[in-house]
Amino acid sequence: MKKILAIAMVLCMVLALAPVSFADGGLVGVAMPTQDLQRWNQDGANMKEQLEAAGYEVDLQYAANDIPTQVSQLENMIANGCKALVIASIDGSALGTVLAQAKEAGIPVIAYDRLIMDSDAVSYYATFDNWLVGVKQGEYIESALDLANAGDKTFNIEYITGDPGDNNINFFFDGAMSVLQKYVDAGTLVCPSGQVATLKDDGSYDKAVVATANWATDAAQSRFENILASFYADGTQLDAVLASNDSTALGVANALESSYTGEWPVITGQDCDKPNMPNIVAGKQAMSVFKDTRTLASKVVEMVDALMKGAEPPINDTETYDNGVLVVPSFLCEPVVGTVDNYIELLIDSGYYTMEDIAG
Ligand code: BGC
Repeated sequence: MKKILAIAMVLCMVLALAPVSFADGGLVGVAMPTQDLQRWNQDGANMKEQLEAAGYEVDLQYAANDIPTQVSQLENMIANGCKALVIASIDGSALGTVLAQAKEAGIPVIAYDRLIMDSDAVSYYATFDNWLVGVKQGEYIESALDLANAGDKTFNIEYITGDPGDNNINFFFDGAMSVLQKYVDAGTLVCPSGQVATLKDDGSYDKAVVATANWATDAAQSRFENILASFYADGTQLDAVLASNDSTALGVANALESSYTGEWPVITGQDCDKPNMPNIVAGKQAMSVFKDTRTLASKVVEMVDALMKGAEPPINDTETYDNGVLVVPSFLCEPVVGTVDNYIELLIDSGYYTMEDIAG
């Protein structure tokens, strides 16, 4: 009897000391596009940490910007019994078939940061207000060059945006142009290379000429090296570069660094990526748009949790994000302008980065 009691006591102690298992909420698949860009590493890490803290198991995958890899990762997630899929797509239009499988299996799909197009299997979308990101970039250039008071003065601008398969570029770029187009029309903003996005009848832009496959820094750099060699080598001043994000802005800055001697232009960006911070601190990249991936992750975790519990996920937009098949109910987080003047408060004081992280 004593022996049994002793064994029971030991068992109780072991149970009391054993880590509480929260991982009973089920498996959630998180598909991220690439580890090449710092922001997706941050997004993936935040999603994993927060989902696990909420009691879920997480299958986090990165697809090296390769569409077939992302498709097969999603197939595996479905086969492995994931209860929900969170997907930052590489090409928003390339997931139709695998998502049809998810829908058939009753698995809810949350589009993360980038809208998934042409599919009725997308349940929700969580992102930042992408139009507002572009507007903030456009407004920054407008105010830095004081375009509203330019009079007869003209300014030279060049444009660069991201991957044509990423629906976000339509919001970033067109949002920025919603501020800048009037200055183009008035002749205040001039593009010496002539590499411009053309305004279509429906008010959107054809961005083929200014797009950057995979948002790659190298591709941005070589395009700008060519532009600088062909149109600015004679001393023409470049006043502004509308760059949709930091990886492209970095390519632009690298090109300028190696082959431009004029006054440094106003360059926009987005993400406050670590590799860009030295340029921001040095005033070489005038601004970035900070999108706190902790906030986005926590919204997505709320969405997953609500879906798993049969409750209503948080949404604050039911009009903007038409994926060609349905208007996807969305939650839009707020982007914030980051500059040399506020990066300490925004990024360091908030615990997003340490000083060493951004030292370059
Ligand atoms: C994201 C940006 C990012 C870009 C390149 C976009 O979809 O919204 O934050 O800079 O992809 O990864």
